[in-house]
Amino acid sequence: MCGIVGYAGSKQAVPILLEGLKRLEYRGYDSAGVAVVSGGALAVARSVGKLSSLDDLLSRRPMDGFLGLGHTRWATHGGPSEANAHPHVDCAGRIAVIHNGIIENYMPLKDGLAARGHAFTSATDTEVLPHLIEEELGDRGDLPLGPGLAEAALADAVRAVLRKVRGAYALAAVWTRAPGVIVAAKKDSPLVVGLGESENFIASDVPALLKHTRRVVYLEDGESAVMTGERCAFYDALGGRIEKTPSVIGWDSAAAEKNGFRHFMLKEIHEQPRAVENTLRGRVYPLDEGRFGRETGLTPELLRSAERVHILACGTSWHAGIVGKYLLERHAGLSAQVETASEFRYRRPVLAPNTLVIAISQSGETADTLAAARLARAAGLKVLSIGNTLGAAIPRQADFNFHTHCGPECGVASTKAFAGQLAALSLLTLHAGAARGFMPREEAREWGAELQSLPDLLRRTLGLDEAIREIARELFAARHVLYIGRGVNYPTAMEGALKLKEISYIHAEGFAAGEMKHGPLALIEPGMPVVAIATRSDVLEKTLSNIEEARARGARVIALCTEGERRLHGKAARVLELPAVGEHLSPILNILPLQLLAYHVADLRGCDVDQPRNLAKSVTVE
Ligand code: AGP
Repeated sequence: MCGIVGYAGSKQAVPILLEGLKRLEYRGYDSAGVAVVSGGALAVARSVGKLSSLDDLLSRRPMDGFLGLGHTRWATHGGPSEANAHPHVDCAGRIAVIHNGIIENYMPLKDGLAARGHAFTSATDTEVLPHLIEEELGDRGDLPLGPGLAEAALADAVRAVLRKVRGAYALAAVWTRAPGVIVAAKKDSPLVVGLGESENFIASDVPALLKHTRRVVYLEDGESAVMTGERCAFYDALGGRIEKTPSVIGWDSAAAEKNGFRHFMLKEIHEQPRAVENTLRGRVYPLDEGRFGRETGLTPELLRSAERVHILACGTSWHAGIVGKYLLERHAGLSAQVETASEFRYRRPVLAPNTLVIAISQSGETADTLAAARLARAAGLKVLSIGNTLGAAIPRQADFNFHTHCGPECGVASTKAFAGQLAALSLLTLHAGAARGFMPREEAREWGAELQSLPDLLRRTLGLDEAIREIARELFAARHVLYIGRGVNYPTAMEGALKLKEISYIHAEGFAAGEMKHGPLALIEPGMPVVAIATRSDVLEKTLSNIEEARARGARVIALCTEGERRLHGKAARVLELPAVGEHLSPILNILPLQLLAYHVADLRGCDVDQPRNLAKSVTVE
């Protein structure tokens, strides 16, 4: 989704804005632009496509100045074009605004503005904002104003406009009459303020700030910030001054770099052993000491008294949620439902008391998951957030927090965050199972030991990389690929298929292996690749039969199995052997080769692996 960067200080703004936008590229975008205020004038440059086009434009038409806004746009209202790219300006060309979100009532606002003589140049919802600010400022645009008065006038005008709009926004505005000042505000879209030495910043996400500062302030919904290079003040929705305590980010900009890997996705796949280690650290043993409960707020009493669990998430996080349902029901005796947040929020669910709601989100900003979690809280239920982004909206709203500590994930395709979510759900199952007396002590001890062996097993699984690249060479021209699995590996199959389709654009579907004969078998043509997850499990025999059924119809089977398993050799066209692990933890290992397969196929097809077409990393609009 759109990326926002703002700079106020004593350095040239444009290089800082471009560098910040680069760090936000992972969010997905189709056009970009910057605005700079200097010497009482506003200059704007915008272009369609990658940041390199904007960079080229700016090298031909340099823009000097120490105050600026930058934006990468992911089209919602109005297609990708230079006219629709941000920043947008008012009629007089004195006010520039960048915005992430959707102004839902922009049509009547636009009609009213047009009737009053405002000229529009784009098809966006955002363009109403600079014009509304222009109206609020009225003739103050032409009167002599001291810097303090101009700053207050801009801040008041932005607040007045925000009272008129409905929808979601993270926005920033500059005005030529208020030199050196940025006014920023947010509701339902992310915005973070970076506090530097004689310079201040705004951004949609922390990676854009890390080169300059690790001291950040997360704005809450309804809050605004008014900043210059020297100071930054925070306000509530009514314009009352508030104090905000800065957080210090624990990782540096190197963590958000590619570190020698060709793509973020490949780097993040390779970071999974460490990511899982970080999710587990200090949380496995001893079960009795209650550290898990103290850290997450999920005390043994609470885990005992919960009668059911309702898991809400989108995309990959939803797949993790399905694994969580299997684990919690089978190993903690907790009835569990799992649902995509976009469905939950509009279907008027019946929510029974004593239900623990679990919102899973890597970014912590997914609009549907956030709305679903709010709905659950409004119904009086407690919400546990499982997330990877401290300070994001969902963990801030939640009653309990389980941070996965996987580090920043920049590839649009989620990889290490999925592994972290699965590790978190396994830990939750372990603690819930033990607290509820459902999981015998000995089993809990074994479960804990096996969890702690995962990072090493993941390291060994990474050793399959070269073999997987070979398989990718045979697969990259395929038009369709099916993935099959059972039990906890049914969601793994769906996740494997999602990885392939989102980055390689090959049509792929994940099916419960037992469902094949109820329809999907009809899809199989001679030579069609079927990726089968057949690692050790209670239902392995049944999966082996399903593989036979697919083979009998001409499928070319690529099978994942457990080291030492001989039954697939000579039957599947390709066999990948993975280290042995309990069925409950197998999705964490099994997904890794499927991620690598998707990566290599997409790379061989020349796709933009980290920024697949039409997709965004943080889906902050619905
Ligand atoms: C995964 O590869 C996708 N990019 C996508 O499905 C993602 O998992 C989904 O948008 C949810 O994101 P979240 O975890 O940040 O809420």
